[in-house]
Amino acid sequence: MRILVLGSAAGGGFPQWNCNCPVCQLAWSGDKRVKARSQSSLAVSADGERWVLLNASPDLRQQIINSPALHPRGASRQSPISAVFVTNGDIDHLAGLLTLREQQAFTLFGSHATLAQVANSSVFGVLNKTLVQTRAVDLESSVDTGIGLKITPFAVPGKIPLYLEEEVVDVGAEGESTVGLEISDGAKSFFYVPGCSDVNERVLKRLRGADVLFFDGTTYTDDEMLALGLSPKTAHRMGHVALSGENGSLARFASSGIARKIYVHINNTNPILIEDSKERESVEKAGWEVAYDGMEVKQ
Ligand code: MLT
Ligand code: MN
Ligand code: ZN
Repeated sequence: MRILVLGSAAGGGFPQWNCNCPVCQLAWSGDKRVKARSQSSLAVSADGERWVLLNASPDLRQQIINSPALHPRGASRQSPISAVFVTNGDIDHLAGLLTLREQQAFTLFGSHATLAQVANSSVFGVLNKTLVQTRAVDLESSVDTGIGLKITPFAVPGKIPLYLEEEVVDVGAEGESTVGLEISDGAKSFFYVPGCSDVNERVLKRLRGADVLFFDGTTYTDDEMLALGLSPKTAHRMGHVALSGENGSLARFASSGIARKIYVHINNTNPILIEDSKERESVEKAGWEVAYDGMEVKQ
């Protein structure tokens, strides 16, 4: 399998268009210790010819331009992207579907709940129904994408998308709103969990001993956005477990036996984006890699 990190940042990207937080400031000023990153998505292929996108980010058009493997080939209009699997209904994971609207056949996979949100948002009606098949996948059920890859969604703690929130939000709900994915080519597999509000025992059990895990790296500290005066919300309230702290992902995965642990969906406030920061050093010491756009993992 070839796994391409199309976008390694969280919603908003890095730098974020309206943000002058200390980390974004470095990016705006061209500081070499940080690399710009686009929003959250991977592309995976078993044969190097046909690809499935895991999430479709608002930056998808530029991500395709940056990735020769995803350029159109053959006569007239023909994209190597055959399918998209979305892990939740967040803007950073759905908006790229609008980029795929130009009369191109592909299959859209997701949970029943997330695909219902797509169906309910009339703007996605722009996808030509005769070409774009939607296929809801039950949790814990493996779907054959038809290109040599099977994908199994499983519930992880999370919440409904921000734009659907009402006064009371059930953060940590485990259901169809936020899923992790196990992707297998029959011989090898890896896990993709870009959003998860708690590394609880079920999550640990599911991921223990994995060869490769791409995991939610949104913030370093739970109160990162609060401390910077950018948002009244903790990471947990946004549906993300922080890296640090006794229940953070660094501590919780410390003895999980996972061979390769890679942070994705990294928010622009997260100091691990600064290559010589002490936070970056702490995650590397703990055996984690920090994904960057264009990173390729062979599995
Ligand atoms: C998130 O990951 O928390 C969301 O992408 C936030 C958002 O929708 O902006
Ligand atoms: Mn997000
Ligand atoms: Zn910022």
